[in-house]
Amino acid sequence: MEGETKLFTREELKCRCKRDDAVLIIHNEVYDVTKFLADHPGGEEVLLEKAGQDASEPFEDVSHSSDARALMKKYKIGELVECDRVQTKNSFSPNWNNDQSQEQGKCVIG
Ligand code: HEM
Repeated sequence: MEGETKLFTREELKCRCKRDDAVLIIHNEVYDVTKFLADHPGGEEVLLEKAGQDASEPFEDVSHSSDARALMKKYKIGELVECDRVQTKNSFSPNWNNDQSQEQGKCVIG
């Protein structure tokens, strides 16, 4: 909970897409949902489909409740490295031009 935030690259998370190791990227934050799969009210299948990937859009498409958002915190394991983050639709930036090309950031640490 406390201390330094662990940082991940999108690249290294891609392989964590299995039932025994499943992570999700939601709004630039990283969640380990392995232990949540069986408890997810929306079912494990939708989570596994997005495991290892960015699930921000499908997460918002469902209009998850504030309860769901509070519950997420329990599974947060870190955040994306700065260069792999994407602008979210709610945070205005003058340079934001709807160009999604940044989304597939290839930046690797080191
Ligand atoms: C850590 C991440 C997530 C948490 C904690 C979470 C939690 C929940 C909770 C508590 C519900 C019950 C309804 C509500 O309270 O809003 C729910 C429903 C649902 N979730 Fe998630 N969810 C997560 C991620 C996702 C993702 C990534 C998807 C889609 C890819 C998804 C799809 C759904 C669906 C389809 C439902 C069912 C809605 C319904 O039947 O009315 N969830 N989720």
